[in-house]
Amino acid sequence: MRDARPSAIYLKDYRPPAFLIERTELAFDLHEDRAIVEATLHLRRNSGVGAGEALVLHGQELELLWLALDGRELGEGEYSLAEDSLSIADVPDQFTLSSRCRIRPQDNTSLEGLYKSRTMFCTQCEAEGFRKITWYLDRPDVMAEFEVSIEAEKARYPVLLSNGNPVAAEDLGNGRHRARWHDPFPKPAYLFALVAGDLRSVDDSFTTRGGRQVSLRIFVEEKDLDKCDHAMISLKKSMRWDEEVYGREYDLDIFNIVAVDDFNMGAMENKSLNIFNSSCVLCSPETTTDKGFQTVEAIVAHEYFHNWSGNRVTCRDWFQLSLKEGFTVFRDAEFSADMGSRTVKRVEDATVMRTAQFAEDAGPMAHPVRPDSFIEISNFYTLTVYEKGAEVVRMIHTLLGPEAFRKGSDLYFERHDGQAVTCEDFVLAMEEASGTDLGQFRRWYAQAGTPLLSVGGDYDEDAQTYTLSVRQSTAPTPGQPEKQPLLIPLAVGLLGDAGNLPLQLEGEAPNVESEDNTHLVLKVTEAEQQFVFSGVRERPVPSLLRGFSAPVRLEYNYSREELCALMSRDDDGFVRWDAAQQLAISVLQEVEGQIREDQAARVDPLYLKACETLLQDTSLDPAMVAEMLRLPGEGYLAELAARRGGARVESIHLARETVLKALALHAEATWLEAYRRNVVNAPYAPVAGQIAARSLRNLSLEYLALAREEHIALARAQYASAGNMTDSLAALRVISQRGTDAQRDEALDDFYRRWQAEALVVNQWLQVQATVPGEGALARVQGLLQHEAFDLRNPNKVRSLVGGFANGNPLQFHRADGAGYRFHGEVIEALNTSNPQIAARLLAPLTRWRNYAAPQGAAMRTELERLAALPKLSPDVFEVLSKSLV
Ligand code: ARG
Ligand code: ZN
Repeated sequence: MRDARPSAIYLKDYRPPAFLIERTELAFDLHEDRAIVEATLHLRRNSGVGAGEALVLHGQELELLWLALDGRELGEGEYSLAEDSLSIADVPDQFTLSSRCRIRPQDNTSLEGLYKSRTMFCTQCEAEGFRKITWYLDRPDVMAEFEVSIEAEKARYPVLLSNGNPVAAEDLGNGRHRARWHDPFPKPAYLFALVAGDLRSVDDSFTTRGGRQVSLRIFVEEKDLDKCDHAMISLKKSMRWDEEVYGREYDLDIFNIVAVDDFNMGAMENKSLNIFNSSCVLCSPETTTDKGFQTVEAIVAHEYFHNWSGNRVTCRDWFQLSLKEGFTVFRDAEFSADMGSRTVKRVEDATVMRTAQFAEDAGPMAHPVRPDSFIEISNFYTLTVYEKGAEVVRMIHTLLGPEAFRKGSDLYFERHDGQAVTCEDFVLAMEEASGTDLGQFRRWYAQAGTPLLSVGGDYDEDAQTYTLSVRQSTAPTPGQPEKQPLLIPLAVGLLGDAGNLPLQLEGEAPNVESEDNTHLVLKVTEAEQQFVFSGVRERPVPSLLRGFSAPVRLEYNYSREELCALMSRDDDGFVRWDAAQQLAISVLQEVEGQIREDQAARVDPLYLKACETLLQDTSLDPAMVAEMLRLPGEGYLAELAARRGGARVESIHLARETVLKALALHAEATWLEAYRRNVVNAPYAPVAGQIAARSLRNLSLEYLALAREEHIALARAQYASAGNMTDSLAALRVISQRGTDAQRDEALDDFYRRWQAEALVVNQWLQVQATVPGEGALARVQGLLQHEAFDLRNPNKVRSLVGGFANGNPLQFHRADGAGYRFHGEVIEALNTSNPQIAARLLAPLTRWRNYAAPQGAAMRTELERLAALPKLSPDVFEVLSKSLV
C-alpha cells in the first residue's frame, strides 16, 4: 500500500531490459514465523540497450539482510533502496548479485508471492508476485534457468516441490530436510513455483507420442485423495489432444499439480508445477456438480496447454497477456467442444461474452484485447483479455481455415520457442503461413468496445436475389472516441420453407466450400456494405452470425414469426438458441413495458407455444432445449435496458417472474413429462448424455415449482433421494427460491449438517443462501459473515457469499435504500487492506452504476465515492474506482 497516487504505465514506453539473468539460484529456509530467501542472480548487460545503465531490481515488502556483488558485500552507500526498487549505479557487464531477505509468508494475505494456505506454503507469482519473494528483474522478457533449494521442518512439510526435475533430497538431521530442484527451461519469474506441505499424491503416467514417459502427480491433502480421478483423466486427455490437434508434446519427465484452498484465481501454469485452486481440481459425484466436472476438465486442459502457449513461448510484456491467455482459452474451448457437445459449449461461451464481456466493454474499465496502459496489471486478467482474446483467435481460425491455422501455429511455436514475444508476432506467423493479409484484422487487438452490426434484408422476387445490407459501428470507449471499421467474419445462411437454401453470392465463383453450400462466411470490412445472393427462389429468413462467428452485437428486425422459424428449423445450433433468446427478450421487454404502465401483463401466446413445441420435441439434444428455454438473467436484461434509458430492477424482476410463471403454467404437463422422461438411471458419470438429461430435468423442476406449490414436493423428494451433487443442489436451489420459509430452512440446515466437512460444498451452500429472495436476504448474508463456515481470507468463500449476493440476488443487492451497496462496499473496504486483487474484482457490479435509473444509480455512485475517499487505497482498488468515477 502506497501513499502516493499510483500511476499508469504505457505499452508505448516499452523498452527491452537493460540486464538479463542467465541463471537464478534460490535457497528458501522456511520457518513458522518467517522465510529466509537467498538469491544469486547471474546477470549480464543486455548488449546494445543496457550500456551505462544502472541495475534496477523490483522488490516489495522485502527485508534486505545482506547484499553482495561478485561475492563482495555491498555497504549502504553502494546501493539505494526505494519503495519498490533497489538500484546499483555502477555494475560490470557481467556479474553475480547475491541477496538475503526476510519475508513473512504467514502474514501474506494478498495470496501473491510466497504465502501460507492453511498448513502449506505455496506461491502465486503471475503477474508480479515474484518481487514479493526476492529482489529481481520481475518482467516476463527476462528468462533464466532456475536452481532452487527448499529447507523446512520434515514432519510438517514432508513434500517440497519446485519447477523442473528433482536433483537432491537430504535429511538435515535436526528435524529439517532439504530438496533441490532444477528447471532446464529458461523462464520468466512469473512461472516460478514452490510448494511445501503435508501432501499425498495420486500418481499416474503418460507416454508421449515421441516415447517420453511422463510421471503425473496430483498433490492434495490426505482427505481429498478420492477426488483426483477426474482431473487426472482430464490431464491425460489434454496431453493426447495437444499432440493430435497441435502437434505439441510435453517436454519434461514430470508434471505435477497441487491443490490449494486459498487462491485468488482458478489455477496457474507454473512450469511443470501447476498450482490449482482446489475448487478447480477436486471432484467427486457426491460433492461436485456437472458444471464443476466440466470446469475441472477445462481448467486442467487450460493450464496444461499453457506449457506451449505461455511457457515455451511467453509474453514480452503484460500488455501482451492475451497472446497466451486468448490463445490458450481458444485451445481449451476447442478441447472441451471435442470432449462434450460442441454446440452447447459454443452457446455457453457466447453467453459469457454477451452477458459479461459486452458489459465490460460498455463500462468504465473497457480496454482492448491488448491494453495500451494500466495501473495494476492484476486488474487486466479480464473477460476481454481472456474470452474476447479467444474470440479473436477463433476469428483467425475461421478466416484461415483449420489447415492454414495449424500451419500458422506450427510456425509460431517453431519460430518463437524459448522467446518472449508479442501479439503482433502471433498475427505475423498466421499471416505468413497462410498467405492471408490480416492488416485490417489487427484492429481487433487495439480497438476496445463491442462492434454493432445492423443488418437489413431485402428480397427481390422478380430478380430472385436477396440483399443483406450490413452497417458496422463501435461506440466510443474511455480514451478511444473514434473507432475504425473492423474485418468481421459474418457467417450466414438463408432459411427457406423446407430448410436452409443453397447460397450463391452474386459475382463470385460457385460456392462449393465443403459439401455444405448453405453456409457462408461473409467478410465485412466497410462501415456499410451489401451482399447480394442470387438464385434465391423464395423469401428467406436470414440466419446470421452463425456459430457466433464474431464477438459483436447483431441487430436485425426479425418478426416473432421469423424468430420462431429460426428457433425451430435453422440448421445452426447457435442461431436456433439465439433466436429463442431474442424471442424471449422481446417478450420480456414487452411485459416490462406493460408493468411499468400499470397494464395487465400479457405474455405472447406465440412464444409460449413455440417453447412448448420445443420441449415436446424428443429428437433434440435435451441440453440444447434447456439452454433455449432458460430465460436471460436479470443482470443481462439490465444491461440491455441501460441502452434504452436506464434499468429499473423491480420491473425487470417482475417481468421475468411473470414470463417464467406463464411459461411454467402454459406447459405444466409438458414440463412434468420432461421431468419424468429425463431421469438418469445409470450410475453417475459426467458425460454429455447424462449431463444433458440432468440439465433439462432440473430446469423442468424450476418451472414446475413455479407453476404450482405442490410441485415443491418433487424438489423435496429429489433432494431426499439425490445420489449426486448436481441433482441435490438443483433441488436445494428450488426449495430455497420457491419453497416456504420452513421448507427452505429445513433443507439448508440439513445440507449444512451433511456437508460441513467439505469446504467446496459449503461454498455452494453459502452461494445458495446469498440468492434466497426476500427482504431478509441482506441480514442473512451479513449473519453468514460471522458463521464458522465463512472466512474473509478465503477468496472462494468471498466469491460464493458476497459475489453470490451481488450477482445472484439483484432485487436485494439493488435495494432502494442502498443498504446492499453499503454492505458490499464495507466488504471491499476490509479486503482493500488484506487482499487487494479480490477487493478490486468485487467492485465490478458497482462500476455499472450508469446503467441504473434513480435511485439505484445514484446510490451506487455514492458508495463508490465513499470508497474513493478512504485514506489508503491499494493500486488495484484505486484504479477501478478512479476509472469508474470520471
Ligand atoms: N495464468 C493464469 C491462468 O490463466 C492466471 C493467473 C492470474 N493471476 C493473477 N494474479 N491475476 O491460468
Ligand atoms: Zn491462462
